[in-house]
Amino acid sequence: MSVFQPDIIAFLCNWCSYEAADAAGRSQKSCPAGVKIIRVMCSGRVDSCHVLHAFQKGADGVIIMGCHPGECHYKTGNIQVLKRYALLTPTMKAFGVDQNRLKLAWIAAGEPGRFIRILEDMAETLRRMGPLKRP
Ligand code: FES
Repeated sequence: MSVFQPDIIAFLCNWCSYEAADAAGRSQKSCPAGVKIIRVMCSGRVDSCHVLHAFQKGADGVIIMGCHPGECHYKTGNIQVLKRYALLTPTMKAFGVDQNRLKLAWIAAGEPGRFIRILEDMAETLRRMGPLKRP
């Protein structure tokens, strides 16, 4: 019997989480198989419609990773995405999508192990939840 492998869209900030992904790759650590990375210059660049579009097009989960608070290269991008995240979760609930399918995390460039652990935890959560059912 095959194990469900969730499709996860991961929006990664160029300056922190993407660097952590790169470092993880250099040390031969791998992401869960279903993770698809989208590199953005700042987590604040990720709009609500990007997240909803990802779910609409087949993602079982979406994660946005940005610089730790106070370390955004554009000053407030991660605070903007945090506000969007707070608005998005009730919107998802209204559409019948469990809010645990969306995650926001702060990652530093020097945290490749933590980067992988967060993705593995999310993949495990989604595996337990099963595929996102669409009408
Ligand atoms: Fe990384 Fe803004 S530059 S979150």
